Amino acid sequence: MTEPEIRKGLSGVVVDYTAVSKVNPDTNSLLYRGYPVQELAASCIFEEVAYLLWHGELPTPDQLLEFETLERSMRHLDHAVKRVIDELPLTCHPMDVVRTAVSVIGARDPRAEDSSPEENLAKSIRLMAALPAIIAYDQRRRRDLHLVEPRDDLAYSANFLHMTFGEVPELAVVSAFDVSMILYAEHSFNASTFAARVITSTLSDLYSAVTGAIGALKGALHGGANEAVMHVFDEIGSADRAEEWLDTALAEKRKIMGFGHRVYKNGDSRVPTMKAALDTLIEHYDRPDLADLYDQLEATMGARKAIKPNLDYPSGPAYHLIGFDTAMFTPLFVASRITGWTAHIREQAASNALIRPLSLYNGPEERHIG
Ligand code: ACO
Repeated sequence: MTEPEIRKGLSGVVVDYTAVSKVNPDTNSLLYRGYPVQELAASCIFEEVAYLLWHGELPTPDQLLEFETLERSMRHLDHAVKRVIDELPLTCHPMDVVRTAVSVIGARDPRAEDSSPEENLAKSIRLMAALPAIIAYDQRRRRDLHLVEPRDDLAYSANFLHMTFGEVPELAVVSAFDVSMILYAEHSFNASTFAARVITSTLSDLYSAVTGAIGALKGALHGGANEAVMHVFDEIGSADRAEEWLDTALAEKRKIMGFGHRVYKNGDSRVPTMKAALDTLIEHYDRPDLADLYDQLEATMGARKAIKPNLDYPSGPAYHLIGFDTAMFTPLFVASRITGWTAHIREQAASNALIRPLSLYNGPEERHIG
């Protein structure tokens, strides 16, 4: 009997249909519900993209107004969540804080077990609205600063930055941040989304699925890479040291964070848009040194390994320039990807089959005690 083929990491395995997004590495394109992500980043705000991912269509002006009003009404940090966050040590990773906070919100939701499409949509909007407050509060407490209350006269990204820094930055900064939120929102069956779908497939609740997805996103091979990129930049220091640093790192067989992708082998479709946003920030904050380091490392990686940057490569330094601590970068990814995760959770629930693959046993032959 021939052994079944094992595809480590499920590489190249197609496990289901999805109508949420389409990744096409051959044409280097990414579509959310049919729309190229570059077009969405150029023409929409994050709220419109969230609506699109959940409803399948962009909102009309009336629908957007209704959605914005709802989202803005749920931006306050729940006192119980705040109390739990206050109990967490500053030594824990901000992703642990986000994961715990989502768990608390779920435990306190009397409708947590109701997984109807309407309830799961309501929970998705609640989490989208709550995450900026959680992340901003955690960033501020790590700087020994008090909570800033949300403003309901501001759009999502402006309010997020207001709650984090106590003021709304200039439009160029808010726009660059909003673009990053749009680009991070969805990417088909990536590891964290798949984790969310696996959990949903057991008929578990949305909060459990999101909590599991946050755990999957934390790792450096996935969302944790945007944070790891900044550590690489800090380690290298300046453009003139990039070549030597990279040669040493490659000789030590290190994975260079922010480069490579499981699906895209000729470049990540989201990078040019995020790089343009980073360029705006570099100009705004007058940091040509960062641009030089970015370009030098990318060029050297291209020359040595022909491996291209992924979205985390420009977004890491972008979040650094905006003023976030490096450890907060992956939670920002959560704030955005909550929209894609929950779109997939609802899709999985609507046409469910328990996800339960097989394995080939390679342990000891059958044996007996005594
Ligand atoms: N640095 C150095 N070498 C790399 C890198 C990298 N970043 N990425 C791939 N390679 C090399 C591998 O060493 C391997 O070489 P080999 O065949 O000589 O052994 C080859 O390219 C294939 O790499 P795999 O790791 O097998 O490819 P896979 O599809 O499993 O990996 C992954 C994709 C995990 C993203 C990988 O490129 C990586 O570790 N990158 C760094 C982490 C990172 O940036 N993750 C963010 C992903 S995108 C996102 O979450 C938005």
